[in-house]
This record gives sequence, structure tokens and C-alpha cells, in this order.
Amino acid sequence: MFMHKVLIDPVPLSHRHDYFRTSSLIGSKITKKGQTIVEFAAQIWISSFLKLIMSQAGLAYTHRTLIKNADQLVVVCSNKERVKKGKDMDQVEIIANGSLVIGHDGKIVAVGSADAIAAQFTDATFEHVVEAKGKSVVPGLCDAHTHPVWSGDRVHEFKAKLAGATYLQIHEMGGGIGFTVRHTHASSEEELEELFEQRLNRMLKFGTLLLEAKSGYGLDWANELKMLKVIHAVAKRHPIHIVSNYCGAHSVPKGLTAVEATKDIVENQIPALVKAKEAGEIDPELIDVFCEKGVFEAKESRAILAAGQKAGLKINFHGDELNPTHSAELGAELGALAISHLECISEEGMAAMAEKEVVGVLLPTTAYVLRIHPPPARKMIDAGIPVALGSDFNPNAHCLSMPHVMNLACVMMRMTMNEALVAATINSAASMDRAHSHGSLEVGKQGDVVVLSTSSWEHLIYQQVDPPIESVLRAGKVVFQRS
Ligand code: NIG
Ligand code: FE
Repeated sequence: MFMHKVLIDPVPLSHRHDYFRTSSLIGSKITKKGQTIVEFAAQIWISSFLKLIMSQAGLAYTHRTLIKNADQLVVVCSNKERVKKGKDMDQVEIIANGSLVIGHDGKIVAVGSADAIAAQFTDATFEHVVEAKGKSVVPGLCDAHTHPVWSGDRVHEFKAKLAGATYLQIHEMGGGIGFTVRHTHASSEEELEELFEQRLNRMLKFGTLLLEAKSGYGLDWANELKMLKVIHAVAKRHPIHIVSNYCGAHSVPKGLTAVEATKDIVENQIPALVKAKEAGEIDPELIDVFCEKGVFEAKESRAILAAGQKAGLKINFHGDELNPTHSAELGAELGALAISHLECISEEGMAAMAEKEVVGVLLPTTAYVLRIHPPPARKMIDAGIPVALGSDFNPNAHCLSMPHVMNLACVMMRMTMNEALVAATINSAASMDRAHSHGSLEVGKQGDVVVLSTSSWEHLIYQQVDPPIESVLRAGKVVFQRS
């Protein structure tokens, strides 16, 4: 059995080493310099203590972290690309026998061949050194679509779906999102924070370091605000970087029509959101809507997304999932950052998204769990849409693992492993407007990496269910170590 540990700000190994040295010297009576053992031990203790203080201030070492000699250092891209698309999606940049240096600010200082880095950093000292010989290193994974704040599971619906019930049948009977809304309403902020944090800890072990997180099980403002506050509070303390997406239009609340719900969102919720954001209570950057037949149709979706955009939010929404609604065309016209699902995208929609470089966020777990047709990933990539991947973690599709999502993308949607990795890193980061800081190992970006115990990175996708992730580093610090 493997032991799994989530480490938040661990004691650096170098400090542990000094304490160990001190205790091993207690056996001798007089040192070479003629000090008593007590004096000598005190001197070492003081020097360790000073080193600890200095390292807290970032002074004892010239840099935070060196990851060296990786058989494959998978940087993904190196020209500060925002996205990779077309044939380029199948090109992943790899440095054979590579090393990477991360500075005290957690950002990448240098990346290159082990020899070049060794020559460039001869006088440098590092707080953490990761020996990666025989191993491979990839950027922290980026999950482009999740609904991670909720209470009350839906295992009973899974059973009903296995027996033949469809997603929309369950939805129309008040189950599905309606079920989760009722449970989430009944939960306190504290309960939701705890559940959210437990889920994040599990995602971290699967290498996720950047996450899009939606509200959307509140629907009324009081509960949407509660969810956005939970996302904001947990984001401040968890190692996973979180981008918050306001999804007040996830479903039409009980007792309202879609037109009435749209009016409430546009006239009441979005202005209240702007005020709460200005007051620092919440930090949504994106706006979402479930654009679907019988939920929010094109007209309402357009009104909600345009109002959110006017309020400074970027558009990143659910579209063309269960029925064709021309969401792709709508998103391209509005200048959306990303559109998710797209199982029923039209040819015109593909051309429009490609032209405007709108990221297509594909969610293979949805098609898998609902037994529906997966989106036409191959056609979309060939059309030039930058494709990203998300877990769609929610009570319908209970998946916390991006390596599993990549495996499904390859098998069910015929993506290559290179395309799946690009989709789960740089393109996914772009769908959250984070391509400048995440999604590849380039100088100036976050020092967020996943170390694999295999010399070929492809084992991350190939080894189903239990990927060979040895450690996860956020800003150069180990936040998960498999032992
Ligand atoms: O992306 N399609 C709408 N939203 C989610 C499902 C949410 C739920 O069923 O609770 C999705 O699959
Ligand atoms: Fe979703």
C-alpha cells in the first residue's frame, strides 16, 4: 500500500538534516577545536536556528527549488503561447535530461538541459532539491470545469441512470441540480468549506494545481453569495489556484420561469455580485449559464452573459450539451473566453469558435456517465479550435482526476496523448485566462509541477486510475508526496 500525504508548507529537508547532525555529534566529548560538546552542540543549534530564520526570510539559499536531471522535462510550450491549436496541439515540447530552477517568489527562473542549468547555477544554493533522474516532470494540471461546492451526493441517481433514466428526465422531476440545490441551501458556509477542501485535497494528489470552480447550486442570491464566499475563503488557503465562476443561471429555480429568473440575475444578482466583489467578499472572474433547451435558452443566455460581461466578468459557459442550441455561435459572437461541453456543436459553430479562438472545454466524464455521444473532438481540433479538458466534477459526474479525464479523452474522443496533455495544461489555463501564469514550464510562470516516477511522461495517461504521481510542487514547495 502506498501512503498518501498532503503537505502544506512542510519543513524543508535541509533543516531536518541539520537537526539530525546535531544529535549525532552528542556522543563525542571534545571537538577538534577544543570546545566542549555542550558548546559545540549549542553552536550548531544556534547556526541551525539562524539558518531557519534566514530561510524564512529567503536569505539562506539563493533559490527555492532545483529539480534536476529529469529524463523528460515536459515544458509543453516555450514561446509564451496563449493556446495551442490545430496540428500544434499534437506537439509537446520536451527537454531530455532537463532541469528547472524556481525562485523564492515561486516562479520559474530557468529551464533547460541539466548540463546548461548546472553550468549556469554553479554558485547557487537551493532550499529544496528534487533529484528526477529516471523520472519525468510535467506542468501542474489545469482543470477547466468543475462544480466543487455542494452537499448531498446523488449516488441514487447514478443507480437510476444505470437503469435507463436520462439526465433531463431526472432534472424535470426535480432531481439532478434541483436535488443538490436543496441540500446546498441547507448547509452552512463552514460545512461547504470543509467538503470543498476535502475534494481539493483529493484533486491535488492527482496533480491538479489550477482549477475553475463554479457556483450554481444556490440559484437565489443569498445562496449564490454563500457559494462564492466559500470558494473565495478556501482559495486563500489551499495550494490549488482557483478561478471563480459565477453560475447563478445553472438551472431555473423552482417557482420562477426562465424569463423571471433571467430578470432576477440581470437586475438583482449581477449588481449585488459587483458590490460584494468590490467589498472583497468574493472574487468571481467568469460568468456561466447552462444554455440548454428547457433551461436557459439562447435569448435568456445571451441577456445573462452580456450583462455579466458588462459587469467585468469574462464569459465561460455551458453550451450545446444535450441539444443543439447554437451556443458555439453565440459564444463566438459575444467574445467568450470558453464554452464547455459542445457535444451537439454545429459546423458553423466550430468555424465561429476557431475564428475567434474561443477555447472549447471538453468533458469526457459527462458523455461517459450519461452514455451520450462525446463531443466531436477530432473535428474540433482539425477545425482549429483550441481544445481544453475539464473533469466536470459535480454530483452527476463524480471525477476528481485529470489523468483519468485525459485517458477518457484519448480512448473515447480519439485525442492523442500529446493533445490531451496540451488540453489539460496550456489550453485549459487559457480557458480561465491564466495562460500567462500557468499551463507550461516557462521562465516567469508559476513553479507548479508534477513529478512522475516513470521516465516517460505518457504513463500519466496510460496507467489508469492510479497514475504514477510521486510528488506535486506548488510554487516550488512540495504539497503532496507519495511515500
Ligand atoms: O456540466 N450541465 C450542467 N451542469 C453540470 C451538471 C451539474 C449537475 O448535474 O449537478 C455539467 O455536467
Ligand atoms: Fe458543468
